[in-house]
Amino acid sequence: MYKVLIFTDLHITEPRARIIGLDPAKRFAEALRHALERHPDAAHVLITGDLTHHGTAAQYAALRGLLDNCPLPVTATLGNHDLRAPYFAAFPEAMRDENGFAQGMLELGPVRLIVLDTLDETGTAPRHGGYLCDKRLGWLRARLQEGGDRPVIIAMHHPPFVTGFDGMDRIRLANDTAFLDLLKEFPQVRHLICGHVHRTISGHVGGLAWTVLKSTCHQMPMLLGKEGTGDSIDEPGAYGVALFHDAGLILHSEDVLSEPAQVSLDDNSA
Ligand SMILES: [Fe+2]
Repeated sequence: MYKVLIFTDLHITEPRARIIGLDPAKRFAEALRHALERHPDAAHVLITGDLTHHGTAAQYAALRGLLDNCPLPVTATLGNHDLRAPYFAAFPEAMRDENGFAQGMLELGPVRLIVLDTLDETGTAPRHGGYLCDKRLGWLRARLQEGGDRPVIIAMHHPPFVTGFDGMDRIRLANDTAFLDLLKEFPQVRHLICGHVHRTISGHVGGLAWTVLKSTCHQMPMLLGKEGTGDSIDEPGAYGVALFHDAGLILHSEDVLSEPAQVSLDDNSA
């Protein structure tokens, strides 16, 4: 199996700034350390957007410092709290397509991973919503056409589907229908992995499986149906552990607890 550690919605701030009292940099550092210690066989780190809280140079510099000692290759894309120019200024070596978007394609074991940049800097989508312009959709089509039957997983920040959180659903991928219609032509696409909502959720849309992963920092309270996008709760940060194998994808969500959990290896009561 090919193991990938997936982090999303880091929301890195300047050093002394907090989000609902939480230190995003500390939370991400804890999550990364937690994941690397428990998964020394992991081969790759993927970060699916909202790398920073405001997209400032100082915030990307802070993130760069946090990733400096990461022993694994890191692939990242952007979310609605990011800005493209300062991101690429801080990470000039980062994955970028020929049109300047933070997207690309990786061969990870038996699977082809396509990472999409859904950040809308044009105001086409509602504020904080996501969008895939014609250039990005054209790039995606070309990658899928050249991929043959090899299974494809797509990672992106904004979900192209609803989750039951009404406020967040209004700022999902704005052109979700165009995106999903394109994918219908390519049955080798098996799973979508997203962030944005700050909650672990799974489902399927039009027969295509999807998973939304929790933030490494603040989470969405369980207020289904609620309007607005500003609700946050201090629940543990989390990350995903993806196992890519010949028969498909296994995707775990792991909470980062400040104290080691008590583990009973002999208790089979589950
Ligand atoms: Fe976020």
